[in-house]
Amino acid sequence: MPETRPEADGLRLCESAALTEDGPALLFDVRQYGRPLRAFALRHRGRVVAYLNRCLHVPVELDWQPGQFLDAERQHIVCAVHGATYDPQDGRCVAGPGGRGRLTAVEVREVDGRVYWYPSRDIRPATDTVPDAPPPRDSHDPR
Ligand code: FES
Repeated sequence: MPETRPEADGLRLCESAALTEDGPALLFDVRQYGRPLRAFALRHRGRVVAYLNRCLHVPVELDWQPGQFLDAERQHIVCAVHGATYDPQDGRCVAGPGGRGRLTAVEVREVDGRVYWYPSRDIRPATDTVPDAPPPRDSHDPR
């Protein structure tokens, strides 16, 4: 069986130690369907989770200060605008005007002291570009 190499598919997000239990989230830029958006990763109950930073009520960012998503009890993600409240473990809206949906999850894994995120068909890195073709060789190039 081939060895699992998460770094081969995932994009390195940070060292595990950068995400402390119920501490500030790490923000990172992505594109969803080609549109630039921000995502965030935080550690809750020992597990790293990540979501698009976008409320279900109105499509605005959730954090009340950059990287601050949790309520005073550190139990829920709460939208700073009207208070929609989400379960950090699965992104499900549990109270407020967010309806019955869930935040859009971004796949993350923690391996060997590092956190990786995994682009999907719809959620791509912000800098997801096709490399330019090499310039044509100049016919006057002396090489
Ligand atoms: S915009 Fe998030 S609760 Fe209204």
